[in-house]
Order: sequence, then C-alpha cells, then structure tokens
Amino acid sequence: MDSIPANRRLWNQISSAYQHEHDPQIGATPRLWGMYSIPDAHLHALGDVTGKRVLELGCGAGQWSRELAAEGATVVGLDLSEAQLAAAARAMGAARYPLVQGAAEQLPFAADSFDLVFCDFGGLSWAPPHLAVPQAARVLGRGGRLVFNVASPWFEACYDEAASRVTTTLQQDYFGLNTIAEDDGATSYQLTYGDWVKVLRGAGLIIDDLIEPRPELGTLNGYNETDPPDWAHRWPAELLWVTHKP
Ligand SMILES: C[S@@+](CC[C@H](N)C(=O)[O-])C[C@H]1O[C@@H](n2cnc3c(N)ncnc32)[C@H](O)[C@@H]1O
Repeated sequence: MDSIPANRRLWNQISSAYQHEHDPQIGATPRLWGMYSIPDAHLHALGDVTGKRVLELGCGAGQWSRELAAEGATVVGLDLSEAQLAAAARAMGAARYPLVQGAAEQLPFAADSFDLVFCDFGGLSWAPPHLAVPQAARVLGRGGRLVFNVASPWFEACYDEAASRVTTTLQQDYFGLNTIAEDDGATSYQLTYGDWVKVLRGAGLIIDDLIEPRPELGTLNGYNETDPPDWAHRWPAELLWVTHKP
C-alpha cells in the first residue's frame, strides 16, 4: 500500500495548526521524547552525537534536528511534507543543516551515509516499518544506530476512536493493528512487539534496548486525552527502540 501521497497531503494541511499547538511543548527544551516530553537526559537513548552523521526521519519542524546540529552533529532533516520542512527552515538556528523532502520508505541516500538514524513519532510511525526499517539500516554505516520512538501497542489497542481517548478497555485487536486510519485517508503504522523484533532483526539490526518511557505522575500528554489521566504512568504509552548495525 502506498500511503505517501495521502500522508504528505495530510501533513501539508495540518502543519500550521499542528506547530501552533505542539511546538511550544516539543520545542520547549532540547531533546524531549514523545507525547510526554520526557528528557533524553533521563532515558539515555541517543547519547553524544558530536561529530556524528545524523539523519532524522520525519523531522517535522526540526525541534530535534536543530538541537543536534547545535551540539555538533552533521544533521540531515528528512520529511515528506513541504509545509513541515518550511516550518523547520523557519525555525532553524545558527547551526544550519540541510532539509530534504523524501519518504522514509524510499530514502534518497547512499549506503553508509549516517552514524545515527532516529525519529520521534516520525517516519517509523508514518511509513510501513517493513519498508522503512530496511531503508534506515541500508543508509547506516557499520556500528551506526537506529533509535526511534513510537506509540506502544497498548496505547493503540486501548484507544477509543469514538471518544478520542485512551482507555483501560481493549478497543482494538492487538493482532492486526498494522495500519491505523488517520484523517483524510492518511495512514499511520503500528506493529506488535513480535513483529517489531522480526522487522528489526530481518533488517540485520541488533536490538540493544527497548525503553518504555514512563512520565512522572501528573505529566500532561500534549496529544491525546487518557482516561484515567495518569494512564501512561501505569501502562507503557511508547516504545523507544535502541538498535545498531553490526
Ligand atoms: C508527529 S511528526 C514527527 C516530527 C516531530 N518529532 C514531532 O513530534 O512533531 C510526523 C512527521 O512525519 C512526517 N512524515 C509522514 N509520513 C512520512 C514518511 N513516509 N516519510 C518521512 N516523513 C513522514 C510528517 O510530515 C511529519 O512531519
């Protein structure tokens, strides 16, 4: 299934409202992961990037890329949406980095171009993982890392579409989450734990860690209502995979 045209259209449509609503949270301080803005300093997923060749897959307005460039990485921000890339261009800091329009499932880079490929609810949430993970592995050099944060299957299986909130009731089958219909014909993707392991190992990657970011009690979710409000303090809302290419 080719979700590129519809996903590009959706992100072009929503970019301005999305940044207006979420940039104050996503960009509040450097290196914040996910829906609960948990600092990387607590999770230790990315590590030192000084001098590394870094690709952000689905960089949006570049809140992460801007910071890593400022830290001394050689960053490329890739995104499908020209409106999101325009937002990243406007928000660029003193450390300039290139922005590339492209899709995570068809990366326009040669093999061994990067030391780190990463995203936070980016290309590995919005491109079919069985295509995007091998692409990420291909462009990594030996020893390079693929690190990415996505919604957990718990979060997706408990999401009540009609009420637009995450609940304590299983709403969707776990087996068969796969594709999630988003607004205006767009699609996001979700795998079971077992399928993530298969796809990562199938692309030749070694899994070093699976971090389950846990917000402090009372931390707000900037995206989805949860019932109870402390849902993500009690169950894992996100999966932060840390892998490398041997
Ligand atoms: C939720 S944003 C992630 C960016 C940033 N971390 C954030 O939280 O705003 C998702 C981004 O993925 C991009 N995207 C959607 N489909 C994509 C694809 N197939 N390849 C690369 N980027 C894609 C969208 O344009 C959007 O900028």
